[in-house]
Formats: sequence, C-alpha cells, structure tokens
Amino acid sequence: MRSLIDILELSVEELEGLMNTADDIMAHPAKYSEVCHGKKLATLFFEPSTRTRLSFEAAMYELGGNVLGFSEAASSSASKGESVADTAKVVSCYADIIAMRHPKEGAPYVASINASVPVINAGDGGHNHPTQTLADLETIRHELGRLNDMTVGFCGDLKFGRTVHSLIAALSRYTGIKFVLISPVELRLPDYVRRDILVTNRVPYMETTDLEAVLPELDVLYMTRIQKERFFNEEEYLRLKDSYILTADKMKLAKEKMAVLHPLPRVNEISVAVDKDPRAAYFRQVLYAKYMRMALIMKLLNIAVEIDTAEAGADAEAEEEA
Ligand code: NCD
Repeated sequence: MRSLIDILELSVEELEGLMNTADDIMAHPAKYSEVCHGKKLATLFFEPSTRTRLSFEAAMYELGGNVLGFSEAASSSASKGESVADTAKVVSCYADIIAMRHPKEGAPYVASINASVPVINAGDGGHNHPTQTLADLETIRHELGRLNDMTVGFCGDLKFGRTVHSLIAALSRYTGIKFVLISPVELRLPDYVRRDILVTNRVPYMETTDLEAVLPELDVLYMTRIQKERFFNEEEYLRLKDSYILTADKMKLAKEKMAVLHPLPRVNEISVAVDKDPRAAYFRQVLYAKYMRMALIMKLLNIAVEIDTAEAGADAEAEEEA
C-alpha cells in the first residue's frame, strides 16, 4: 500500500508514467470509465477548497468510482476533538483511498501512517501540494514539449505557496533547469526549500523583486496568489497583496513561447486581459490536473490499463513531422 505525501516519493520515471497515462485517458476516456467501479475515494478537506476537491471528485467519478467526504473541518469530528490519526483509521473502514487537505503541515503524513488505505496529500498548510505539481508538470510538458532545459520563474508568495515548494522539488530533478525566484523580500522562498532542494542538488537560481526585468528570460512563468490565510498580520497582507500584477502590457516583454501557469484561485495577480493570450495556460492546467489525479488514483489503487505505446509513438512522430 502506497501513499503520496511528498512529490519526491515519485521517481522521474513514475512521473513520466503518470503523464503518459493522463495522455491516454485524454485520448481514450471510455477505456477508463469503469476501472474504479466499486471503489470509493474519501475527500477529507479540513481547509476550504473548491477546485482541488472537485477535481478529485470529478477524477474518481470519471473512473467509475464513488466519492464520500467532507469539505470543512466544522462538519467533521475534528470539531469534537478527534485526532487526524483516529480520523484516518475510521475512514479507512469506509473508503479505498483518501485525499486529505489540512491547514497543518504534516497532517496528511500522520494520516498516512495510521490509515490502512493510501492517503494523498491534497495540500498541507504552507508546505506541499504534490497533486498540483502533477498538473503543473503535465501542463509544462504539453505547452513547451519538454521538462528539461528551461528557465522557470516563480512569482508572488514563495514563502507560503505550497505549490511552489512542490514544483521546485520536482523540477530540480530534470536537467538544464534554472529558477528565477521573484517575490517581495518578506515572501522569499523558505530556507529549508533553498537548502534541501536548490543547494543540495546544485540547481542554479537567482532571486529578485523585479518581475519585468527578468520576464524576457523565462520559458515558464508560475504566478501565485498571496496566501492571505497564512499571514499573522492583516496589515502586512494588505501591504503585500498587490505586489505583482501580470498585465497584457508586461506580456509584451516575454518570449513568444513562454507559458503562464497559475494554480488558481486567481485574485489580482493576473489581469483578466491576459486570459486571451495564447501563452496563458492556467485554464488548460485545470483540465490536466483532473487527468493527472485520475492517473494517480489508478496507480495507488494498483489498477493497470495497457497503454498502446505504438500509438503514443506514432502520435509523437506525427507531431514532430507537422
Ligand atoms: C492552491 C493551493 O491550495 O495551495 N490552489 C489549488 O490547489 N488549486 C493555490 C492557492 O490556494 O493559492
């Protein structure tokens, strides 16, 4: 039995396998529409979320499975004082797999060592968000056609933005990656990510507060929301909340093939006018997220479906010729 708590628990080969499965699901949805028949996913969301929870639910339904769960701590027994460990043991009796979001860093890990079914970390505090990273990798692979040799800019709240931490960890294992970290000084990447990921793996990176100055160099721009709910001080949030706004004018500075990603929800950091730009990939990213979650659920439930690799190869060749 296997869980997914940190993105680094998946090897690069496994990530590739998940992306290939997601591509096959997109091409042949009917082949997958009953593979989880009789299986149940529990979504235990102790922190508000719409998209991630709905994405997991849609993923399970599209695999022919069922879903149960709750969407806020107030409607769970946590409000009566139940521990995460106990909740995990109890829910293991009802479901075949659990997706858990929690405001406390490490809570899904605690659940995973107490559950008797696989647990997926659907976001733990300001720490990690591995399934968003699956979506991000699949999006970059589709938008740029590669996951190597690129300069990736992260902009906004790099301190509390858990999606940033997980994606930096995942991309650090590919070759030819450079990171440009764009944030206010107060919201710089936490030291543990810098030390354990960037320094340890000798990944080149630079830090700046100036988005426009670095825009022309980027192949990917990953915009993030300032994470209001993680601030201790409302005044500081108000001061920093509009630090960066990507506008159609600023997009003129960027490469013609740059991809703009955002885990959503968007607040103010990308103006709506950018949505029309073909480089705006954030709504396509939402769709890739669902297919990657489908692939992950299948993997953790040990459901294997043959992928026609000859066909995948033929598709790639056709694309190359075009
Ligand atoms: C992200 C999250 O929850 O960390 N959203 C998501 O999963 N779709 C990003 C965010 O909330 O800003």
